[in-house]
Amino acid sequence: MTGKIAVLPGDGIGKEIVSEAVKVLRCLSEDFGLEVEMEEALVGGTAYDATGNPLPEETLNLARASDAILLGAVGGYKWESLDISLRPEKGLLGLRSNLELFANLRPTFLFPQLVHASTLKPEVVSGLDIMIVRELTGGIYFGKPRGVRRLENGEREGVNTLIYSESEVRRIGKVAFDIAMKRSKKVCSVDKANVLECTEMWREVMSEEARNWPEIELSHMYADNTAMQLIREPKQFDVIVTTNMFGDILSDAASMLTGSIGMLPSASLDKNNKGMYEPVHGSAPDIAGKNIANPLATILSVAMMLRYSLDKPQMAERIEKAVSAVLDEGKRTADIWTQGTQRVGTSEMGNAVVAALRRQI
Ligand code: IPM
Ligand code: MG
Repeated sequence: MTGKIAVLPGDGIGKEIVSEAVKVLRCLSEDFGLEVEMEEALVGGTAYDATGNPLPEETLNLARASDAILLGAVGGYKWESLDISLRPEKGLLGLRSNLELFANLRPTFLFPQLVHASTLKPEVVSGLDIMIVRELTGGIYFGKPRGVRRLENGEREGVNTLIYSESEVRRIGKVAFDIAMKRSKKVCSVDKANVLECTEMWREVMSEEARNWPEIELSHMYADNTAMQLIREPKQFDVIVTTNMFGDILSDAASMLTGSIGMLPSASLDKNNKGMYEPVHGSAPDIAGKNIANPLATILSVAMMLRYSLDKPQMAERIEKAVSAVLDEGKRTADIWTQGTQRVGTSEMGNAVVAALRRQI
């Protein structure tokens, strides 16, 4: 047995895209000998509707007992007025923190076939290959105190806390440096050291840790400048390492360089490389149930799962090759469609990837 996978489709387009990714896993197990066991559970708004909890105990236990987790997306208009502690997003954040998935890898790469789907000029984006390493279980997302309180004068005051311990910075730094050693050995650490003491310390700790990695070329950049540089000259970056919130924002920005956020996978790993795999995009409630969402980010997340948690790099390559072949055939979901290509729906795209995989037999 290669591993047990917890399948958590979640909300919105989550169900549609995850079922395409499951088709791919089934194909790998039927035709290529991958031995996996899959079990499904509820998370997010769907879980709240069924149980009153966005992260039911049962789901957390299943996630704990699995070698890897495949997640669709959480959230939707329907649950926006709930108390923040019950919102779908809490399901996702609870999985990240309970399982200590502190290292979020968000590769941003451009399939050459999609150069024209980007809103940026082809010469700016072609050949792009960035790895964003986002700290995922600390920072302002989890810092205390947090909340909204009523002041004596009757007005409300909201507070969130940006907090990092040295060891949290060091461990995410190590992940980034380790990844960079297998790439161009360049790491850019992103902070706001000119304003925030917490990230001034972040910068110091990154520099200290880098001394243990003599081959790594470490640079530092402010988050606002990084947002600009990502659009101006994205190819200057290789590995970016940053805080939870800056990583959230910059990874969305970076995704658009590739034409569509619908193409980008992610991995969230603990210290033993157990991981949760999900597309970078959200639950897109506006297009849910219409069979138009792009399942490729989720399918590519399965490839990351095979590479990082299940130690099946060849199977990962098979998936990536199959996706590339489908793009070569000219098949495109609405988000990446351009003149002269063939528009397909979510399930047609999944079927096409499975067909391309079968051609590899
Ligand atoms: C992401 C998402 C989440 C985040 C939300 C859904 C809680 O935007 O994974 O980037 O903010 O981390
Ligand atoms: Mg985000």
